[in-house]
Amino acid sequence: MPLNQPIASLRGRTVWVVGGSAGIGMALAQQALAQGARLIVSGRRAQALAEAFPSEAVRFEAVRREVLDITERGGAQRVLDGLAADGWLPDLVFWVAGDYKPQPIEDFQVEDARQVIETNLLACYDGLRALLNHWLPLAPARAAQGVPRFHVCWFSSVAGYRGLPLALSYSASKAGLNAMAETSFVELKPKGIDVSLVCPGFVKTRLTDGNDFKMPALISIDEAAEQTLRGLARGEFEIHYPKRFTWFMKVLRVLPHGLFFWLMGKTRRPHQD
Ligand SMILES: NC(=O)c1ccc[n+]([C@@H]2O[C@H](COP(=O)([O-])OP(=O)(O)OC[C@H]3O[C@@H](n4cnc5c(N)ncnc54)[C@H](OP(=O)(O)O)[C@@H]3O)[C@@H](O)[C@H]2O)c1
Repeated sequence: MPLNQPIASLRGRTVWVVGGSAGIGMALAQQALAQGARLIVSGRRAQALAEAFPSEAVRFEAVRREVLDITERGGAQRVLDGLAADGWLPDLVFWVAGDYKPQPIEDFQVEDARQVIETNLLACYDGLRALLNHWLPLAPARAAQGVPRFHVCWFSSVAGYRGLPLALSYSASKAGLNAMAETSFVELKPKGIDVSLVCPGFVKTRLTDGNDFKMPALISIDEAAEQTLRGLARGEFEIHYPKRFTWFMKVLRVLPHGLFFWLMGKTRRPHQD
């Protein structure tokens, strides 16, 4: 039984990719456009959005570029209000934007931790509030008309399954997001709104380019986007990939603490090699 309404195609959907100027979000936005979605794409850098999504598509009203820093309080609400006023209210949102940098515990900076948690977790609440302000009043009528349900898809990580080395605030932020997605799934299901959660392993982007350790089962942004869309088509709540890595991470999640700590202690950091 699918947990969400399966989304076989994005044709005819109005899709907002938050964090679509680079990496997984950019690949996802390009695939959404190729499938015939009306696309809204956001990021902090106007130039990067313009390079990734050229003006022809904007002129033909297939794409709308919205500069947004998700850590700006009320920013998501402002953008959504503008979209709704122009008839561009999204019915499917990929909240992909996120931040990561490896944090060796001996010299981690509090400011870096704050920024990671602000971007990866607290900003999601801003986004959720803004979406619900627009979606909750409309969702019941959509169900009655047989229109596809509203759907928000949060990008988390397998790093949220347990506290991983070098991920002092990243693991915490993604664990929080996993919990937020589960809670909101349960509470929004009867209100006509679907929620999904994406937990990738390693994907080659500028975020992981900073890692100086060998990343197992590293995949491309296009593969990550394809796997995300396949999970949506199956109506999954949690979409995780690549399976050869993520199933191993799921086993780690259920190990007793002693065994988990021993295994993590054996993952030697690069400068100790
Ligand atoms: N890469 C991986 O191996 C991996 C693994 C697991 C999970 N993830 C998760 O997948 C998501 C995407 O990661 P990625 O590797 O594709 O990252 P990326 O290449 O760095 O792209 C991140 C995107 O988010 C946007 N963004 C970042 N901070 C933002 C902010 N404050 N406001 C608005 N937009 C912001 C960036 O655009 P601007 O710079 O223009 O703002 C960019 O479009 C993240 O949530 C990440 O935690 C990634």
